Amino acid sequence: MRLLLINGPNLNLLGQRETSIYGSSSLESIELELTKKAEERTVELDCFQNNFEGALVDRIHQAIGNVDGILINAGAYTHTSIALRDALLGTQIPYVEIHLSNIYAREEFRHHSFISDRAIGVVSGFGVMSYQLAFEGLIAYLHKPE
Ligand code: DQA
Repeated sequence: MRLLLINGPNLNLLGQRETSIYGSSSLESIELELTKKAEERTVELDCFQNNFEGALVDRIHQAIGNVDGILINAGAYTHTSIALRDALLGTQIPYVEIHLSNIYAREEFRHHSFISDRAIGVVSGFGVMSYQLAFEGLIAYLHKPE
């Protein structure tokens, strides 16, 4: 099984950025922890972060034919990007939406997501653990018999 973890804009600043909301873990440590978990499960995990919408769209396109599932924290593009939605739907690869913070407990503009209605699931509000829960959920979904 091959999974792809995508992180969008400003998530490269995790650990320094608004730590009262996003916590003190760096993206590197999140990726490392998830990679270890993946190795234990003999799952291949690729990690990708970019601040540009088009680069995220391109990476999603590259997943066609070689990725079984996507974990995505699209950052602020969650609330703005039809292009990202179209890319995810275009690949037909199952995906789980991730947020460190509980987007529904924050500003109203964060309450809408362009990607959640077609996601396998959404994990929001558990900090770093959101990534781990999403990872477990996606693997369970992919292992489920048809
Ligand atoms: C975020 C929530 C978004 O609203 C915000 O723009 C982010 C991070 C989260 O992980 O909680 O950049 O996706």
